[in-house]
Amino acid sequence: MTDTNVKFPKKLIEVALPLDAINAACVREKAIRHGHPSTLHLWWARRPLAAARAVIFASMVNDPGYEVGSGFRHGVNKVEAERKRKELFQIIEDLVKWENSNNPEVLERARNAIMESWRETCKYNAKHPRAKELFNPDQLPAFHDPFAGGGALPLEAQRLGLESYASDLNPVPVLINKAMIEIPPRFHNSRPVGTLPKGGKTNLTYNGPEGLAEDISRYGLWLLDEAKKRIGQYYPEVVITEELAKDRPDLQDLIGKSFPVIAYV
Ligand SMILES: C[S@@+](CC[C@H](N)C(=O)[O-])C[C@H]1O[C@@H](n2cnc3c(N)ncnc32)[C@H](O)[C@@H]1O
Repeated sequence: MTDTNVKFPKKLIEVALPLDAINAACVREKAIRHGHPSTLHLWWARRPLAAARAVIFASMVNDPGYEVGSGFRHGVNKVEAERKRKELFQIIEDLVKWENSNNPEVLERARNAIMESWRETCKYNAKHPRAKELFNPDQLPAFHDPFAGGGALPLEAQRLGLESYASDLNPVPVLINKAMIEIPPRFHNSRPVGTLPKGGKTNLTYNGPEGLAEDISRYGLWLLDEAKKRIGQYYPEVVITEELAKDRPDLQDLIGKSFPVIAYV
């Protein structure tokens, strides 16, 4: 049910969006194969991160156009509104670029714009009966995607500074979202705790999720080692013999060396 006491100005998404820039970023994103959550696990109907980021941002910032008559007076004249809209468009255009996904300057600009709009909204709702709880200018509303799937929306909400929640009836997306949204912030800036592999090095500092990433890779190496110990004898490496290299000039330099087998038939 809509709370008719709530006063909110039009959001940017209701007025205008830089669609060409968003579409171009979405198309480019399809080719990204390193560092994209889609490489963690394929999930059908996954939304491009660029679109999710743009849509959440444009739903959180107020349109600067003039509005009056809904119990509050908001915005600026046409010329000034156009100028301000251009600034918001610029934020979106920078925000949707894959290489800016973790750019602190771009994210800071986006978070500041969201906060500014939220403070305006809180001001218009200062007399709401639950203003203290619902319209705290220092506390952005939390974000919840109840059909989170591959988690594009909750991930991007978190990136934009919102407290983010994801749920889904399928346990696979629940796991994807735990791995992507719930666990990394818990170990933010933590040092790795797993056993250092032979020849491995530790860094002086671990920023953001680096310590967690290092632990995952240490654990992966440990698993590989254990698997080799327990079943490695059934998957022997192949030795390049003279016989094998007889009609293969490309193997000549490799005679005597052994290599892991990619596939057994
Ligand atoms: C289209 S997908 C969401 C894709 C997501 N936006 C993304 O970017 O990956 C819809 C999701 O809704 C979930 N779903 C469908 N019915 C549901 C229900 N009744 N309760 C919770 N989740 C549901 C499905 O399991 C599926 O993961």
